[in-house]
Amino acid sequence: MQLSPMQSRLAASIIASCLLLAIYLFLFTPHFALAAEIGGASLGHSAERDAEFLALLDDEDSATPIGSRSPEYEPDFGLFDRSIIGRATEETQTLVNNEVREKNLDENSQATFVFQFSSISSREAGESGRTAELRKRSNGSQDQDVEVEEPNTDDADADADADKDGEGHELRRRQSATKTLWITANTCLQPDRPVPDTTGEDPPQLTLYVSTSKDNQSPGPMAKGNQDTLLFEEGAVMYNTTVSGDVYFTVAAPFIKDTFTSKMYNFEVAVSVDQPYHYFDNTTDPNVNWVDSDAGAALLITGNLTDNPDTVMTEMPYSLFAYAQGDVSVLGVRNSYCGLGNYAQIGGNRSTLPKNMMSMGMTRRGEGNLTKQEFFFTGLNKSTTYQAILTTNPGFSSNISTSKRDTGVGSKKVVFRQTEFDTKSTGACMVISNLTFCDQVAYSVPGNETRFGSGKVEELKSFYDDYAQTMYKNFEKAMTTIPCDIENTSKYSLARNCDDCKQAYKNWICFVSIPRCEDYSKTDLFLQPRNINSTFPDGTTVDNMTLAEFGNQKAYNSSRRPDIDTVVAPGPYKEVLPCEELCYDIVQSCPASLSFSCPLPGSDVRVPGKDVFSSSYGQHRDGDKSVVTCNYPDAAHYRRSASAIVSLPWTMMGLLGGGALLLLL
Ligand SMILES: *[C@@H]1O[C@H](CO)[C@@H](O)[C@H](O)[C@H]1NC(C)=O
Ligand SMILES: *[C@@H]1O[C@H](CO)[C@@H](O)[C@H](O)[C@H]1NC(C)=O
Ligand SMILES: *[C@@H]1O[C@H](CO)[C@@H](O)[C@H](O)[C@H]1NC(C)=O
Ligand SMILES: *[C@@H]1O[C@H](CO)[C@@H](O)[C@H](O)[C@H]1NC(C)=O
Ligand SMILES: *[C@@H]1O[C@H](CO)[C@@H](O)[C@H](O)[C@H]1NC(C)=O
Ligand SMILES: *[C@@H]1O[C@H](CO)[C@@H](O)[C@H](O)[C@H]1NC(C)=O
Ligand SMILES: *[C@@H]1O[C@H](CO)[C@@H](O)[C@H](O)[C@H]1NC(C)=O
Ligand SMILES: *[C@@H]1O[C@H](CO)[C@@H](O)[C@H](O)[C@H]1NC(C)=O
Ligand SMILES: *[C@@H]1O[C@H](CO)[C@@H](O)[C@H](O)[C@H]1NC(C)=O
Ligand SMILES: *[C@@H]1O[C@H](CO)[C@@H](O)[C@H](O)[C@H]1NC(C)=O
Ligand SMILES: *[C@@H]1O[C@H](CO)[C@@H](O)[C@H](O)[C@H]1NC(C)=O
Ligand SMILES: *[C@@H]1O[C@H](CO)[C@@H](O)[C@H](O)[C@H]1NC(C)=O
Repeated sequence: MQLSPMQSRLAASIIASCLLLAIYLFLFTPHFALAAEIGGASLGHSAERDAEFLALLDDEDSATPIGSRSPEYEPDFGLFDRSIIGRATEETQTLVNNEVREKNLDENSQATFVFQFSSISSREAGESGRTAELRKRSNGSQDQDVEVEEPNTDDADADADADKDGEGHELRRRQSATKTLWITANTCLQPDRPVPDTTGEDPPQLTLYVSTSKDNQSPGPMAKGNQDTLLFEEGAVMYNTTVSGDVYFTVAAPFIKDTFTSKMYNFEVAVSVDQPYHYFDNTTDPNVNWVDSDAGAALLITGNLTDNPDTVMTEMPYSLFAYAQGDVSVLGVRNSYCGLGNYAQIGGNRSTLPKNMMSMGMTRRGEGNLTKQEFFFTGLNKSTTYQAILTTNPGFSSNISTSKRDTGVGSKKVVFRQTEFDTKSTGACMVISNLTFCDQVAYSVPGNETRFGSGKVEELKSFYDDYAQTMYKNFEKAMTTIPCDIENTSKYSLARNCDDCKQAYKNWICFVSIPRCEDYSKTDLFLQPRNINSTFPDGTTVDNMTLAEFGNQKAYNSSRRPDIDTVVAPGPYKEVLPCEELCYDIVQSCPASLSFSCPLPGSDVRVPGKDVFSSSYGQHRDGDKSVVTCNYPDAAHYRRSASAIVSLPWTMMGLLGGGALLLLL
């Protein structure tokens, strides 16, 4: 009878197995019942070694990859105690530099990999930055100790040598140099939790075992040799070691309680000598800032992506995921790129948001006219705190630094620290951006969901934008009476020109006539209550005490632009006042003949409304940049970055009296 190679292998395996079973039954019969009883809990970890043992008995032309068998393998007959029947046999898999491997892992099982030091070329061993290719492919012989002496270690020469006698001549060179090797992994799928809330426990994390020793080629929970053990942190692990030889590593899944409805893991593992392929940073900058939100939408923006306004950047380097505080689906994989993709409530595959609720784009808004990426979520729940997690977009092809501040530079899948944002409680504030004239405006403004919701937000945008533009046109007319565009010497100032003045006025009119809106329920003292005599959307009113005290003050019972109260009808709201610099900038930039001046901060700032300054302009507070205490172009809830605000000298205002007081009431 003629057997195909497949059949003969199978036959050999069956014969070997039967033989073993016979020996086993002969030697260890009393233990059999016991083994069957406890099988579930202890089978998995030995499957590896069983596989190797069986492989040893198997025929010679086995397709087992190099390194999966130890040349000095010593059969450990103790294994027989644990299992001979059962688990799928896992072979040690070879991973090369910058290769990513994805695998399923059942509970209580493990997957072992080997990185062969010889697989990196001499150039890579000496320097970083090139994609690897497997240079040494042992054919037949598995002798790992072949060492080719390189008299000349110069890379160029070595390569030339390789090219010269390159006909089928495999480059077999052992590197004596050491190299940093990163082993990184992400959990993509984890067991499904029994209850979808915080009362249940999180699925346990995977574990990475690493051995650099030939004596321990199957690191893992049961291995005896030297090994490093790392528990995944929120679905991710990063390990680095200096290597000068092969590295063996195992990803092992723990035992899962029966309360979990599934027990399967899926993970992705990568090795690299260039940089960690997966990278997470739970400690430094989230790299994304929350700009503003309303009851159902939020706007977030990254930092500057370029150093130069002339750099054109159209491809988006980042992705953003988010989840509501209290949503547990993502817990356990928050440092994992693929885990976020699979579990995040917003942005992920199992998103509970209706489609198209997140839009991303590039913008040049903000200081410096530099490119940034922005994210706009809609369809959020009101009065809810969300966590946003920025990640790099692996599809991003350019190498413009997307992660300047961390050591993960060059990493493909970076997960940044999560950052918080929340939504407002009522529809009185609405986020607008992309205005034609006031292009720097991107925050929530007094609105009315009933009047401007569902597609009518454009009307709200033009209500604000058109007014500012009209005011600006009037101002431009006034400017024509002032000699601006004649030769240098007769200019009103050497430092500033009419363009600066116009720019300052534009900023001012936009930010003063388009108020930044906050929930009335917010109690921060820097907020200015507006329109308090009106009723809230739910028909209630501001409390009697407040009404009695402030109801007859214009700064409280109306908006800066009274037609906001009638046309938009937002109900009572609070305003984040524009920053004082917007005013001083005009005074500094515009000709004295225009006689602009800013209100002086009053003596009693503690009683809001008692002085005109404190109900018109806000000030930056030292320290906490995570709170927007006054509104200016670029204002966002900066969590960690220390963007210095240039404060202008107070003396400027003392020089100017009378004239047009820069108020809009
Ligand atoms: C192994 O070597 C033989 C002869 O040198 C060659 O024919 C065969 O293709 C090689 N196999 C591999 C996998 O390189
Ligand atoms: C290597 O890992 C250690 C922690 O084990 C870490 O402190 C160090 O920064 C890492 N080195 C590199 C180059 O990533
Ligand atoms: C970040 O690390 C801290 C402790 O180092 C931990 O308490 C926190 O849960 C971590 N957050 C994430 C998202 O991993
Ligand atoms: C910003 O830079 C772009 C490209 O250099 C330029 O076209 C645009 O006019 C600039 N905008 C401003 C406000 O300077
Ligand atoms: C969603 O799942 C598909 C298929 O499983 C996968 O190709 C895709 O990358 C996933 N999307 C995200 C954001 O992870
Ligand atoms: C972006 O760059 C500008 C100009 O250098 C700087 O003023 C601004 O603070 C930067 N923004 C951020 C968020 O770092
Ligand atoms: C909003 O709340 C509902 C009910 O609690 C919940 O099912 C839904 O997932 C939430 N959506 C978001 C985007 O938070
Ligand atoms: C990556 O950056 C380097 C140095 O900044 C530059 O020389 C190279 O052209 C860049 N590559 C790509 C694909 O942008
Ligand atoms: C602004 O326009 C961009 C691109 O058209 C879009 O992605 C973004 O969602 C818009 N932002 C808002 C707040 O409408
Ligand atoms: C507020 O005043 C109105 C009439 O002046 C009165 O009907 C109402 O009960 C008062 N509300 C409270 C909470 O005192
Ligand atoms: C607002 O209410 C207060 C107190 O109820 C009242 O004195 C004041 O005249 C009202 N102002 C307007 C503009 O209705
Ligand atoms: C919002 O607009 C609707 C419809 O125009 C109006 O009935 C409602 O009173 C407005 N909301 C507030 C708080 O005034």
